[in-house]
Amino acid sequence: MSNELQNIKNRFGIIGNFPALNRALEKAIQVAPTDISVLVIGESGVGKEFIPKIIHSESKRKHQPYIVVNCGAIPEGTIDSELFGHEKGAFTGATATRKGYFEVADGGTIFLDEVGELPLQTQVRLLRVLESGEFMKVGSSQVQKTNVRIVAATNVNMMKAIHDGRFREDLYYRLNTVQIDMPPLRERKGDIHLLFRKFAIDFAEKYRMPELELDPGAVHYIENYTFPGNIRQLRNLVEQMTVVERNRNITIEKLAEYIPMETHLPMVVNTPNAQKQTDFGSEREIMYKILFDMRSDINDLKSLTSELIKNRGAADLSNHEKNLINRIYTPEPQQAVNSGSLLYFEDNNKVQTPTIISNPEDTYEDIEDIEVEENRPESLSLQNNEKDLIIKALEKHKGRRNKAADELGISQRTLYRKIKQYNLEE
Ligand SMILES: Nc1ncnc2c1ncn2[C@@H]1O[C@H](COP(=O)(O)OP(=O)(O)OP(=O)(O)O)[C@@H](O)[C@H]1O
Ligand SMILES: [Mg+2]
Repeated sequence: MSNELQNIKNRFGIIGNFPALNRALEKAIQVAPTDISVLVIGESGVGKEFIPKIIHSESKRKHQPYIVVNCGAIPEGTIDSELFGHEKGAFTGATATRKGYFEVADGGTIFLDEVGELPLQTQVRLLRVLESGEFMKVGSSQVQKTNVRIVAATNVNMMKAIHDGRFREDLYYRLNTVQIDMPPLRERKGDIHLLFRKFAIDFAEKYRMPELELDPGAVHYIENYTFPGNIRQLRNLVEQMTVVERNRNITIEKLAEYIPMETHLPMVVNTPNAQKQTDFGSEREIMYKILFDMRSDINDLKSLTSELIKNRGAADLSNHEKNLINRIYTPEPQQAVNSGSLLYFEDNNKVQTPTIISNPEDTYEDIEDIEVEENRPESLSLQNNEKDLIIKALEKHKGRRNKAADELGISQRTLYRKIKQYNLEE
């Protein structure tokens, strides 16, 4: 890595060594001395705001103004006047002439954040100032000159915005003379733990607490999370855990409370990633462990309820308590559907689907069945249990699919699909 790149990272507190991140930063350093417009593209929270700062600070404009304009945050009615200024009397409330950012930033840099949100009429003015350096204040017919370098950023799909008529194509090409792409965090697996440690140190200092640490399983788990909110989300996560968690050593179970498995799984299954094959063995171990933990939680619940029944006698239980107990013994249908996606490693795993007593109106007798049912050898196939559950629901509701779907807690469409899948049509 070049010294210059390392210097920039140190100066701005940028963590990470992922090649695409390094390329983005290198590109910013390279184009900085020119006046070329730059468009920064990347999902929310990936660190786009570092780029215009680097460009400005590495350019000959660095002692001139640097102005950040959040195009999405300024009301449509005032944005032209904010950017280009207005004449006295241009509109109600314009009691004096006002300079806009393009005048104030003369000689410097303007960062147009969320540029995709600019109203169309403002896009026309912006195109003109980019092409000729000319603009007019709102309510004035006098042309003024300015010399401003533009860096813009967006997390929206600009091609779609152009296609939908919300963004001018000519302006897009004018802004996008050089494009810098900031990679999402989920592609930067190797940087995730580095960032975690940086934020753990920062927040430990801020809140005067010992630093959080991830144990090896937790590192692996977090590295495979999708991070839809990218680095901002990771930062918030570490801040929250720093304040809330008593135990400084973060285990996989702890992390799973913050990062739910559903948002984690698609990553494991779908990512086109060369590491996938080699990582898969340990992914599977992690998933086993989570499933086993869930099972032991369910078993704990079961023995608690058995005790309750023994101590109080089933006849004394209120309807509410009976319903609750029944729900403990009835898997959430949605979960059963989710676990369906885990079927590929189910064979050598002793995942047990909880025994099913599905009628919420079940009374005393059903509760007594619990012990018996619990000792019965269970089918270990999630698929078989799912199928049985669907058959039971259909029988109970005499084939009325809407009722059965309701009871199963799944959509009718999902139920139709499952009926087809298991050949239950008749
Ligand atoms: N590589 C990094 N190293 C350290 N901190 C980072 C890094 N990338 C981003 N951050 C931090 O993550 C947070 C989000 O970054 P930033 O505000 O630049 O996101 P953004 O791409 O502008 O997102 P949005 O589109 O939502 O505005 C900031 O607190 C930033 O300091
Ligand atoms: Mg931003």
